Amino acid sequence: MRKIMLLNAKGGCGKSTLATNLASHYASQGKSVVIADFDRQGSSMDWLEARPQDRPPIRGIAAWRDPVRVPRTTDYVIMDVPAGAHSAELTALVRRAHTLLIPVLPSPTDIRAAAHFIHELLLVGKIVRDETRVAVVANRVRENSTVQHTMESVLNSMKISYSTLNTQIYHNLERFLSRLKIPFIATLRESNNYLVADARGLGIFDLTPAQVARDIEQWEPLLKWLDSRRSMPDAAK
Ligand SMILES: Nc1ncnc2c1ncn2[C@@H]1O[C@H](COP(=O)(O)OP(=O)(O)OP(=O)(O)O)[C@@H](O)[C@H]1O
Ligand SMILES: [Mg+2]
Repeated sequence: MRKIMLLNAKGGCGKSTLATNLASHYASQGKSVVIADFDRQGSSMDWLEARPQDRPPIRGIAAWRDPVRVPRTTDYVIMDVPAGAHSAELTALVRRAHTLLIPVLPSPTDIRAAAHFIHELLLVGKIVRDETRVAVVANRVRENSTVQHTMESVLNSMKISYSTLNTQIYHNLERFLSRLKIPFIATLRESNNYLVADARGLGIFDLTPAQVARDIEQWEPLLKWLDSRRSMPDAAK
């Protein structure tokens, strides 16, 4: 049973979006999936309610209220943790996961806040490294934003590939992460496809392939990492 937790102290960075998309991806592969929603806003539970009956089922647990009891046959438990969970509460939550995924928005403030948050998780001892693996996902990166556009033309003139571009934007975070040996695993663009899927209780993987090809391509490094032993703590291998 894989336990994957989405968290970040900041609100609105994509925790629930990544949780529901991961859950629907694994469900569409025939896996048995539970979403444990620790956020009393209940975004993931609302999403499940909108999910059509003819889609592969996903079980939901209102974990802010009910105990997280899952059948032994469960393949994936995806945990959606509220923004602002702190101290003792946070410690108790992160100890439930093998793998922590931290979505980060591409603003300097968000990047700094994420760096502090990871620092707190690691150095204040909430995470024991052989019990938990952590990775960061850049989310809602605008492909045509002015900053990006400018950087892109500069980088093009320097013949640096497009994939390096996002690394540039997250340069500071990446430096911080590499010192702590935490991978910066994927960059997801700002895309209306997430909103379209969310409104229907689906993930982007359920939409017309041609429509979501670019988004799915961006998920590949994340899914590959999650499938690999690198995302599993030593204690659980
Ligand atoms: N890559 C993306 N492209 C476009 N919209 C996105 C993307 N990721 C998230 N969103 C939208 O941004 C909003 C915030 O995302 P989401 O609810 O997943 O964040 P959250 O971290 O769970 O927020 P909260 O802290 O309130 O729980 C939602 O409306 C969601 O649909
Ligand atoms: Mg949420």
